[in-house]
Amino acid sequence: MDIAVAGAGYVGLVTAACLAEKGHKVACVDVDAGKVALLQSGKSPIYEPGLEELLKKNRERLLFTTDGAAAYRWADVIIIAVGTPEEPDGSVNLRYVREAAKQIAEAAEKDCVVAVKSTVPVGTGDQVERWIEENRKNPVHIEVVANPEFLSQGTAVKDMLYASRIVLGVESPQAEKVMKEVYDPFALPYVVTDRKSAEMVKYAANVFLALKISYINEIANVCEMVGANIEDVTAGMGMDPRIGSQFLRAGIGYGGSCFPKDTKALHWLAAGCDYELKTVQAAMEVNEKQKVKLIEKARTYVNHFCGLEVAVLGLTFKPGTDDIREAPSLANIAVLLEEGANVRVWDPAGMENAKRVFQKEVVYCSTIAEAITNADICFIFTEWQEIRQFDIRQYAALMKTPLVLDGRNCYSLDSAREAGIIYESVGRERVC
Ligand code: UGA
Repeated sequence: MDIAVAGAGYVGLVTAACLAEKGHKVACVDVDAGKVALLQSGKSPIYEPGLEELLKKNRERLLFTTDGAAAYRWADVIIIAVGTPEEPDGSVNLRYVREAAKQIAEAAEKDCVVAVKSTVPVGTGDQVERWIEENRKNPVHIEVVANPEFLSQGTAVKDMLYASRIVLGVESPQAEKVMKEVYDPFALPYVVTDRKSAEMVKYAANVFLALKISYINEIANVCEMVGANIEDVTAGMGMDPRIGSQFLRAGIGYGGSCFPKDTKALHWLAAGCDYELKTVQAAMEVNEKQKVKLIEKARTYVNHFCGLEVAVLGLTFKPGTDDIREAPSLANIAVLLEEGANVRVWDPAGMENAKRVFQKEVVYCSTIAEAITNADICFIFTEWQEIRQFDIRQYAALMKTPLVLDGRNCYSLDSAREAGIIYESVGRERVC
């Protein structure tokens, strides 16, 4: 099939590469000429395991362009995968979706299907249909379907090639048939429904995972108070297939470009129907508190942070990405700086992005050892392999006071005891 993808961000790019891998001819459109030039030269603007290999392997079937009109004109299917940024009130900004819809409507010269893959509020499919009708130049039939994605950063290629399901929100059997031609080569299970239900699947799924994290974080907080161990508790819970073991890792809260945005957007959507989503509200509040929980724990050891040497290990919202958007590390560093601490940070991937947020206020270190040498306190905010594998005895050897506050439970309590450090983690007893 001839497929066009609007947007060469991480969703658009991974989608384009995987569709080409399955034999489709794909034109990927982006307004950013620099990004398009980079892609044309065979390089990926983002790091996603396996992506660059797929782009190289399928370059015969992949085209990157800034010329949307040319790409959309004769496409059988056009996938909208542009960004949907968050507004200050929690609503979703659909400006880029509207621009893509308008451009498609003006360009299309044959019947086609427009599949909305961007995460959009329920009802956006109807809106896209109206934008297309208002701007359509030629007597062609353009059908809009909802086709949400479930890619996680760091495993996006695998998540697309071996997805747990393909969700299609269609309003006609013809659109369903066309979309199945796109996805049949993947040989994955389908959930076919109406457009609004498909749009809801995406929010309901992401927000459910966020609820699961906030729930387990609260259980972890109670474990600390009653002397239970969260890791044993989740092991015992997770074996129940009705619960499942994933997304039960207690820590300092969820971040990233999806969960914080999607929880707010779903809450906002329901509020627009005069319905308060109380579980979601609670999950958001718990997450905000959980993010700075370690700072509160640190205050039980020191009276103030002013003038203290503070090491921060891990900046990104999770390992395997350079993305620091909504990362718990940011809120913590802001408090430390505001209270006058000297902050030294280390992260294997997120430091370039962090430099745009904190310029000269923090010291960027090239090794973990450099960051913790002579430190009064060390905070761990991301569970990078490099941190997990770091010799825990080095904290005792290099820090001024070996006080380690670990927001991602990177070390076993036994190893902390043997190393002779003061060790605070999440949902487990303190070691001192
Ligand atoms: C999430 C979803 O997992 C994807 O299915 C979805 O497609 C994507 O959002 C999206 O909407 O585009 P992602 O944001 O890449 O993917 O990251 P996750 O792996 O879900 O992690 C999100 C946050 O939750 C991270 O900060 C992570 O540290 C935290 N987390 C995750 C926990 O604190 N505990 C856990 O057990 C799991």
